[in-house]
Amino acid sequence: MNVVETIAEMKRLRRELVEPVGFVPTMGFLHNGHLELVRRAKAENSSVVVSIFVNPTQFGPQEDFESYPRDLPRDLAMLETVKTDLVFVPSADEMYPPQFDSWVNVEGVTERLEGAIRPGHFKGVATVVAKLFNIVQPTKAYFGQKDAQQVVVIKKMLADLNMNLEVVTVPTVREPDGLAMSSRNTYLKPDERQAAVVLYQALTLAQGLWRKGEKDAGRIRQVMREFIQQQPLAGKIDYISITNAETLRELDIIKPPAIVLLAVKIGKPRLIDNIVLV
Ligand code: PAJ
Repeated sequence: MNVVETIAEMKRLRRELVEPVGFVPTMGFLHNGHLELVRRAKAENSSVVVSIFVNPTQFGPQEDFESYPRDLPRDLAMLETVKTDLVFVPSADEMYPPQFDSWVNVEGVTERLEGAIRPGHFKGVATVVAKLFNIVQPTKAYFGQKDAQQVVVIKKMLADLNMNLEVVTVPTVREPDGLAMSSRNTYLKPDERQAAVVLYQALTLAQGLWRKGEKDAGRIRQVMREFIQQQPLAGKIDYISITNAETLRELDIIKPPAIVLLAVKIGKPRLIDNIVLV
């Protein structure tokens, strides 16, 4: 497994990889969710590139950029186990030199949900992902359903800017109790960790109602809100949303393909999760 820090070296080694090339962009502090993306990329391609870069431009000024968990030796050991070919670990200066002045701004689908709560977040995500796509030139890139709006934003960027690759969405990998794996779960204290399962339980409650024939999105949102509020460690609910899975437009009457998304504070940490209604 080769580990490279510069864009020049990454581009040079990229030319030697056997096609097709799968690519998994990450911010590191890897868990089994990330590894699942790499396994899928490995199964569908001859070579796999993983990037580890805690992208400063997608964090707001009050967010956790400084404290975001980092452990490169551990990440590299995990990537070895899934037979990653090439790991790209650029510095912030390498990706954003002082004269950096170009941004990718996807409008529309970024207006609501995470985009509304975290202004500028998706501008940072789209910009860094576009740069990484240009540097790595993958055949296919792999993203987790865990960050549902991120997948929609990246797919819109691809379509609007005619980018020449395919985006593959990988289902959310969960802990045994249902909590979606996330690097930020390390922020949870033990009692918060137990309480955090309330997100997944609220989502499965919604799915159960939908499967029993409930089509009124407002009614399902209300049941979910009341369910979350009875968990004492659950704090502010940023949103509970039922939308069309492709456009992320809010639905009054549920019609597939639909998705239920939520963002809830459990203690200090803020968690997001979603479930596709099928
Ligand atoms: P990060 O949070 O490290 O996630 C990297 C990839 O792993 C994303 O596509 C994310 O959706 C996926 N992922 C995270 N948890 C998952 C889980 N439990 N199951 C399945 N997939 C999961 O998302 C980012 O980094 C950044 O925004 C990035 C795209 C790298 C741009 O900086």
